[in-house]
This record gives sequence, C-alpha cells and structure tokens, in this order.
Amino acid sequence: MVAQVIDGKAFAAKVRAQVANQVAKLKEENGITPGLAVVLVGEDPASQVYVRSKGKMTVEVGMNSYEHKLDAETSEDDLLALIDKLNNDPAVHGILVQLPLPKHLNEDLVINSIDPAKDVDGFHISNVGLLGTGQKSMVPCTPLGCLMMLRDHHGSLSGMDAVVIGRSNIVGKPMAQLLLGDSCTVTIAHSRTKDLPDVVRRADIVVAAVGRPEMVPGDWIKEGATVIDVGINRIERDGKNKLVGDVDYASAAERAGAITPVPGGVGPMTIACLLANTLTACCRANDLPEPEGLTA
Ligand code: GUN
Repeated sequence: MVAQVIDGKAFAAKVRAQVANQVAKLKEENGITPGLAVVLVGEDPASQVYVRSKGKMTVEVGMNSYEHKLDAETSEDDLLALIDKLNNDPAVHGILVQLPLPKHLNEDLVINSIDPAKDVDGFHISNVGLLGTGQKSMVPCTPLGCLMMLRDHHGSLSGMDAVVIGRSNIVGKPMAQLLLGDSCTVTIAHSRTKDLPDVVRRADIVVAAVGRPEMVPGDWIKEGATVIDVGINRIERDGKNKLVGDVDYASAAERAGAITPVPGGVGPMTIACLLANTLTACCRANDLPEPEGLTA
C-alpha cells in the first residue's frame, strides 16, 4: 500500500481561513477583536522564531497580537505580575507563556497563574482536569491539530485502536484523552513499554510524539494504519541539515494508509489551533456561540 499524504500545511491554511472568517464576523457583528498575548522570557533562538511566527499569523487572521519580551533574569514576581495584568485585561482573550522558561522560574507555578479561560495552551491544571473528565476545556494545540486531521481523514474514530508513543504533558497525555473522548481504544506507550513493535503493530492509529529521530520503522506499522508524526528533529545527513519526524517516513509510507510528512504535517497545525483556541476563548468570554469544527 502507498499511503495517502495528509497535507498539514494545506489543512492549517484552511483552519486559519476559517478563523479569519469568524474574526471578521465578530468584528462586524459584535465590535469585538480577539486578542492573543504571548510572553517570551529570555533569548532562546528557537522560541524567538516561534513567537515571531505566532505574532505574524495572529495579525494575518485579523486578531490583535500583544508581545511581551522579558529579560532572561526577570524575577518570578515580575512575571506573575504581568500575567495578573493580562488576566484582568478585557482586550486579551488568550495568554501564552512560551516554554521552556529560564531555570530560576517555576514553570508549573507560572502556567497555573494564567486564568484557565485564557489558557490557550491548555496547560493549566484546571484545563487538564476538565479534559480528563470530558468537560469543556481549552485543549493543547498540537494534540487538537492531530485530532482535527484524524477526524477529517476518518470521519468517526469510534472503536479504533490507537497508540500514542510518548507521555508528555504537552502532547502524549492530552492526545490520549482526546482519542479516548472520540471512543478509541487507547494505549500510551513510552520508553519502558515492553514489546513496543508489537504494541504499534496492533494500532489503526499511531501518534508518534517522542522526539527521537526516525525511531518508528515502517515494519512496525500495520498495513493501512494512519500515522501522525509529531516529531520535529534536526539531524545531519550527507553533510546537510535535515528535519525528520519520529517515524521513518520512507518505509512507513509503504505500509500506512495515510501519513503526515515532516515538515508540512502536524507542525503547521499547532499555530492554526492556537488561533482557533484564541477565537474559542473570545467567544466564550462574550457568551457567543463557539466556532464550529475548531474545538474538540
Ligand atoms: N514551546 C514549545 N511548544 C510550545 C507550546 O505549544 N506552547 C508553549 N507555551 N511553549 C511551547
């Protein structure tokens, strides 16, 4: 079987266009412009690239973008004071604190100081609990993007066997909750899982989110399975820098029914879902109906 390629870049463009449409409607009919505040502490180069890209796309869909760049030595009190200000600012509907934070800052404390209704990353402990109990929450962007692509490809996921490889708070655990919410039978696999190849071979859906370049070979993939590759790993091959996923794309594409490439798969969906979450947060804050197809 030669896999259908799931084009995340095109899908993300479609999601952003839907968001832009809704934002235009909100402005016209309600006089409201959604606003996203992004907080960056320090000068981590990769984080700077992400934050710039988020700001640009926020403006492109017609939202207000508020960027707060703080010195690497910023104290916890000063960061918490900024978050408190943003929590109380009615023009700000979404708040994202870029991770990782410098070592002297307590990430859990900082994330849990964000108003859960504005926590567009879905990392606040309240949102984690709401998702885990099947209640309305803010859903982490990368897993939400994966779920959208899976629903688009399959329609219903009910009864499918899904394996999530990786147990991070940002991707693995919320991904498993979302799949469970869509009535999959879910296995979370990780570095201590026994017989990982056998576990993966049983899956109709494989979500790989471990951050190890090409660790899932094609012969672990069940014929016709759907493979969602969350990994973005920089490697050097033949003297060139290359981006590869957690799945060996070439061999997996020979067995899978559908597969996301790296780059151009899950990656572009993350920011699209951040914008979708900001729109959702804005609608909820104003007691307006939530956008259709953009939430879990
Ligand atoms: N750093 C890497 N990915 C993310 C993300 O999804 N959200 C935040 N806040 N920081 C990140």
